[in-house]
Amino acid sequence: MAAPMIAPSILAADFARLADETAAVAGADWLHVDVMDNHFVPNLTLGLPVVEALLKVTDIPMDCHLMIEDPQRWAPPYAEAGAYNVTFHAEATENPVGVARDIRAAGGKAGLAVKPGTPIEPYLEILPEFDTLLVMSVEPGFGGQKFIAEVLPKVGTARRLVDAGELSILIEIDGGINADTIEQAAVAGVDCFVAGSAVYSADDPAAAVRALRAQAGAAATHLSV
Ligand code: DX5
Ligand code: ZN
Repeated sequence: MAAPMIAPSILAADFARLADETAAVAGADWLHVDVMDNHFVPNLTLGLPVVEALLKVTDIPMDCHLMIEDPQRWAPPYAEAGAYNVTFHAEATENPVGVARDIRAAGGKAGLAVKPGTPIEPYLEILPEFDTLLVMSVEPGFGGQKFIAEVLPKVGTARRLVDAGELSILIEIDGGINADTIEQAAVAGVDCFVAGSAVYSADDPAAAVRALRAQAGAAATHLSV
């Protein structure tokens, strides 16, 4: 496996200082941006205009996590704007393949997210249409929640398919990742770790990113020997 990736979630940042908060995680692999519409989840954050503004002030590839209804309509513009990866929820659409194709046609990587209670088996055959599988390890909607370890078998299922050469996809986990939980996720086979409060509550967020990456890398290496 490649070196683990860390995607700080700006949901835990100071929204009045987003450019500074983005600069504070220099060296991060992706910048995770949580878009919530107050319909798919009971919270409201930011949308395309803020993403467009952030794209102008950072070179970190942007990972947009759309917790919204009607991704068919709203997701492709994030890719058109220049987001590197655009992830939407399996539970939000009847036509995930169509949305993925539209995101890719707009120049983005396409991600499929699943809530903690959503199995991945019904989606395995469409995963070749995607670049990223985002396994939620909290209920989507809020940062700072407790990690749900029961989702890790979904990571293991995807990991085995990738390692067997049957699937090519990046496995991402989101919710409750911190120094106490990242090792079990790494051992299960996660490639990319979203971390909001663990990064932004640190005195030095960039150092927190490096520490989490090193911790995940050490845990994954331990697994493979
Ligand atoms: C939750 C969001 C997460 C959240 C993670 O709906 O998708 O990205 O910001 O925050 P922490 O790391 O604090 O759980
Ligand atoms: Zn997220």
